[in-house]
Amino acid sequence: MTESGRSHLTRRRFTGMALAMGSALPAWLSAAEPPAPSPPAHPAITGPESLRAHAAARGVLYGAAVNPALLDVEGLAGTGTTDGYTQLVGAQAGILVAENAMKWAGLRPTADTFDFSLGDRLLRFASLAGQRVRGHNLCWHEGLPAWFKTTATKDNARELLIQHIQTVAGHFRGQLHSWDVVNEAIEPQDGRGDSLRKSPWLELIGPEYVEMAFQTAAQADPAAKLTYNDYGIELDTAEQTAKRGQVLLLLRRMKARSVPIHAVGVQSHLQADGPQPGEGLKSFIREAAQLGLEVYVTEMDVNTHSLDGGPDAQDAAVARVYRDYLGMVLAEPNVPMALTWGITSAHSWLNASTQPWALRPDGARQRPLLFDDDLRPTPAFFAVRAAIDAAHPAAPLPEPSPVPAIDPGNLYKPFPVPGSPTAQPQAARPGTGR
Ligand code: G3I
Repeated sequence: MTESGRSHLTRRRFTGMALAMGSALPAWLSAAEPPAPSPPAHPAITGPESLRAHAAARGVLYGAAVNPALLDVEGLAGTGTTDGYTQLVGAQAGILVAENAMKWAGLRPTADTFDFSLGDRLLRFASLAGQRVRGHNLCWHEGLPAWFKTTATKDNARELLIQHIQTVAGHFRGQLHSWDVVNEAIEPQDGRGDSLRKSPWLELIGPEYVEMAFQTAAQADPAAKLTYNDYGIELDTAEQTAKRGQVLLLLRRMKARSVPIHAVGVQSHLQADGPQPGEGLKSFIREAAQLGLEVYVTEMDVNTHSLDGGPDAQDAAVARVYRDYLGMVLAEPNVPMALTWGITSAHSWLNASTQPWALRPDGARQRPLLFDDDLRPTPAFFAVRAAIDAAHPAAPLPEPSPVPAIDPGNLYKPFPVPGSPTAQPQAARPGTGR
């Protein structure tokens, strides 16, 4: 759908919602330094004033994770939807990702069957609403179905992974913007020399599972941008600096071995209080550009579990984090896309979790996203829109050297990992299709 078609859709279906929202002006950022922009008295937030339209005007994408089961696809395909969540997702997001539906657990009810119904539902919705879709994810240590534990063995895991990627990426072939091919493979605290996480995939297949997944995905869907996605790499704390370094090392190793990878996803689950991302992430993004990689903000939200104060204090702090963070990363020309992990606090995983890092001592619900439980925009909405307006337009990446230049003293130089294919010459190996 064209931008003008999109405006037509939003005008026709969202006028009522915009009027309702006019009276729901959120308290704005107050004590922040430097001062944040004030929203207009009666903010227009749909059609040309939506996030997707503002993003399109800057040549970038804003999107969100959704539960396809909650989207009124039939309404949208028919006379129009009256469902507020569906309206919001259609109005604001230029790209969608399934929060859970395209994970192994969402697609594989049994070892022998695939259920694409929710994934297909998402694709259908996105096509009606003129949105892109990204895939999440093909290989992760979580989100696995219960049968995996008793079925996967060292003998069959390689075939299981390859067959899964061929089937799933093949099913959606040509339709996706990008795939999170491997998710969260680095965990320095697991103590391995290569910093790979001790995941079921590592233990059943070995370190080569990462490359295998990317090679298989490239064959199954050559059009999708293949992404490595991780969390805990945003801050300049010692722990996150070390992890970020190891992720960069993995990326360099992959590029040096001509593994098909196009982007790195920085999940961006941030905290409202405490240290914020800074120079380390900025350098990482620039290092990724030197490798010819785009960087996507894939799962942003702002956790307020330990922040003092009521809803207004939460909202102000959350908006500041969005403003500062997206202001920083969208200034980089190889960051063309930012997604939030959900769009309303009503459906945020942070409000579903009972973990101590999600629960507020006052028992209040978190407000980590751009809309609240009643689908009203929070100050974060306006902070994100302002950051998008200031985004550097996405630019072509610098031409990467075929093999990254290595400074012998550089921590990040590619190195052979004992027992991994990085120690072997680039010869065809059975099962990888190379
Ligand atoms: O759907 C079942 C339901 O049938 C069952 O009754 C219920 C009982 O526990 O579980 C439901 O499934 C849950 C699912 O979310 C849907 O709500 C799973 O238990 C639960 O583990 C799952 O959590 C998801 C988590 O990933 C694990 O897959 C979260 O919603 C989702 O937000 C979270 O997303 C991850 C990204 O994929 C990767 N990055 C971090 C991010 C946050 O953890």
